[in-house]
Amino acid sequence: MSQKVAVVTGGTGGIGTAICKKLAAAGHKVWAADIADDAKGAEWVAARKAEGFDFGYVRADVTDTEGCAAAIAKVGPVDILVNNAGITRDAVFKKLSKVDWDAVMGTNLDSVFNMTKPVIDGMLERGWGRIINISSINGQKGQFGQTNYSAAKAGMHGFTKALAQETAKKGITVNTISPGYIGTDMVMAIKEEIREQIIAGIPVGRLGKPDEIAALVTYLASDDAGFITGSNVAINGGQHMF
Ligand code: CAA
Repeated sequence: MSQKVAVVTGGTGGIGTAICKKLAAAGHKVWAADIADDAKGAEWVAARKAEGFDFGYVRADVTDTEGCAAAIAKVGPVDILVNNAGITRDAVFKKLSKVDWDAVMGTNLDSVFNMTKPVIDGMLERGWGRIINISSINGQKGQFGQTNYSAAKAGMHGFTKALAQETAKKGITVNTISPGYIGTDMVMAIKEEIREQIIAGIPVGRLGKPDEIAALVTYLASDDAGFITGSNVAINGGQHMF
């Protein structure tokens, strides 16, 4: 496959870094977009360079519409966009604040608008594009303590289905991946007792690995996956089947 330019939001995090590495291994030029400043981004780039990867880094606060447009302008034409940035602010709904609702909507859902908007025209003009939205099992099944997160993650897939229809004839695919519980800092931050209960409910009997998500992203980004669009691919160890 010819080399494509990929941008991965939340690209320096647990799943994000794994996605960057697998896309690079598939031959793409990869930019991590993240909220850390340029100095921190440069540290991340240098650490990955020591591992043999040549990544770009661009600062992007995915809640900031103009900031995302400016970040994409720095990168140039983008062929593959992975909307991976996400946060949790877990609380039962009766205790959930508007601040924590807005934070999760901004980072997990507004981000998809903010990052897709500046790349879509170029993809349409060039007749090729891949947009991959990293949602969650909890957008599919809901989760106790996550009305905000479940709503935002379900919203991502609504966006996927609508945009997939609008762009299918132009060589662009738009898909959602819904990971279950993956062994990252986000999941390790859940109280141990609750986390153990969750793992006990995963038929495969373990947390998922960032590399397992990254491999699926890389496949959906390939030419071979050109007939897959508007899909929501579950990758959750059997925890939720539908
Ligand atoms: N179902 C039903 N009841 C539950 C429950 C559940 N899953 N979890 C807790 N409860 C009950 C408790 O037993 C408790 O009952 P009592 O009041 O009768 O004692 C009541 O609900 C309150 O629960 P907590 O004491 O746990 O409330 P809290 O305010 O201390 O904690 C919480 C709330 C922070 C949301 C906590 O329940 C929690 O961390 N839940 C897990 C949330 C979760 O899975 N987050 C995923 C993060 S990772 C991620 O999001 C990545 C991804 O995409 C998968």
